[in-house]
Amino acid sequence: MYLRLSNGKEIPIETHKVRIVQKTSLVPIAERLRALEEGGYNTFSLRTRDIFIDMLTDSGTNAMSDNQLAAMMVSDDAYAGCESYYKLKAAVKDVLRFEYVLPVHQGRAAEHLLAKVYVKPGDVVPMNYHFTTTRAHFELAGGTVLEIFTDEALNTQSTNLFKGNLDIQKFKDAIKKFGAEKIPFIRMEATTNLLGGQPFSLENLKAVKEIAADHNIPLVFDGSLISENAYFIKQREKKYAKRSIQEIIWEMMELVDIFYLSGRKSSCVRGGFIATNNKKHFEALKPWLPVYEGFLTYGGMSTKEIEAMAVGLREMTDINVAGSAVEFVRYFAQRLIENKVPVVTPPGGLACHVDAKLFLPHVPQSEYTSGALAAAVYLASGVRSMERGTISCDRDKEGKEVYSDLELTRLAVPRRVYTMSQIEYVVDRVTWLHEHKDLVKGLRFVEEPPVLRFFFGKLEAISNWGTKLARVFRKEIGEY
Ligand SMILES: Cc1ncc(COP(=O)(O)O)c(C=O)c1O
Repeated sequence: MYLRLSNGKEIPIETHKVRIVQKTSLVPIAERLRALEEGGYNTFSLRTRDIFIDMLTDSGTNAMSDNQLAAMMVSDDAYAGCESYYKLKAAVKDVLRFEYVLPVHQGRAAEHLLAKVYVKPGDVVPMNYHFTTTRAHFELAGGTVLEIFTDEALNTQSTNLFKGNLDIQKFKDAIKKFGAEKIPFIRMEATTNLLGGQPFSLENLKAVKEIAADHNIPLVFDGSLISENAYFIKQREKKYAKRSIQEIIWEMMELVDIFYLSGRKSSCVRGGFIATNNKKHFEALKPWLPVYEGFLTYGGMSTKEIEAMAVGLREMTDINVAGSAVEFVRYFAQRLIENKVPVVTPPGGLACHVDAKLFLPHVPQSEYTSGALAAAVYLASGVRSMERGTISCDRDKEGKEVYSDLELTRLAVPRRVYTMSQIEYVVDRVTWLHEHKDLVKGLRFVEEPPVLRFFFGKLEAISNWGTKLARVFRKEIGEY
């Protein structure tokens, strides 16, 4: 929650206390340079021992609650018919109001099953925006991902409160152009990750459903960041200001045919599931679950995580849990804006996103602007961020580069993990880097995997800029 102090200043305030901690250390810049070079200027290649503050992702890195940890101790490891599954089923029924639940080992496994069962070669899958794994699975199944976001979605310096909205007219046009029979479903992603954690409004979701229903197109809802989207709806959509997070979630779910999530985000565990009230969908997906994931009552998840997920789903409807990352992101973004660092506005739900094109206007996309910035941020601070730009888009079938709509460097805020002083440290070092941005140049690939290249790709710094940046840092700031 956000709290106004007696001096008028507003700060995000924790509504929990920390009782288990993990030690971290800040290694000197010479070590950071070595780690970066060994890891091919890819922050995915870094080891925890070399990272001071890990803002790579909020996925599976959130602090769990005492009740989640306690639930893990009473899990039932039965291969079939495990009692933990029935607790998850009850939580899904209460929180999301779905009858049928198929657990999977993580979000992309849900996407794999949906692609396997519903996406055929030549199909078109419209969505408010893609996520990396979503696109990979739907394209591997022979489909085409059609992003129909509003024009405002790509404006990183915006005041539009719902940049995750789907463009209704473009949806109508797509149905006319491709035909409803070529559209296996429409996908709406809550708190749209790659647009900078931007929500859609409930009004927009209702409009999408109306058109989809008119054409018998099922609505698939990616709810990995569902509680954050509900929190934004409460804050930003007047009609829902007095509604609880739970009530907003219920209202969204009334519109949904198939729901899936990565449990690693809003529900603070590791795992995922698909849920529906439609027996036909359940029966179509169920046979494939043991083939790719595991038996119905564990679906590739550890039963401990299933127990923790049942608790996490209920806890995410607490307004202070739903808003825990959002409010820190808001503070983080505000502090960087005060220091003239270009960040995505309005601030989103899972991370503070730096607009790398504005930060490094001299580094072209062909030299991977946001990848270069992620590497430079690590070098200048020991803080690990993630490239969300052209490196995160694989080449097309002809091998040509696909330039990303946005070049974002994502500083994720895992829920209930970092403190305000740690955020202030990141603000300080990113600001220093911005003041020395000319030292940062581009990157080029030295090893490039064919799919999801951002995970394992290795790059090098053009003109060896990392060494020069480290030299200036040491002279002005010292070893740390
Ligand atoms: C919106 C969204 N969908 C799907 C996924 C994939 O989930 P997972 O990483 O659990 O496979 C993610 C992961 O970050 C996500 O943010």
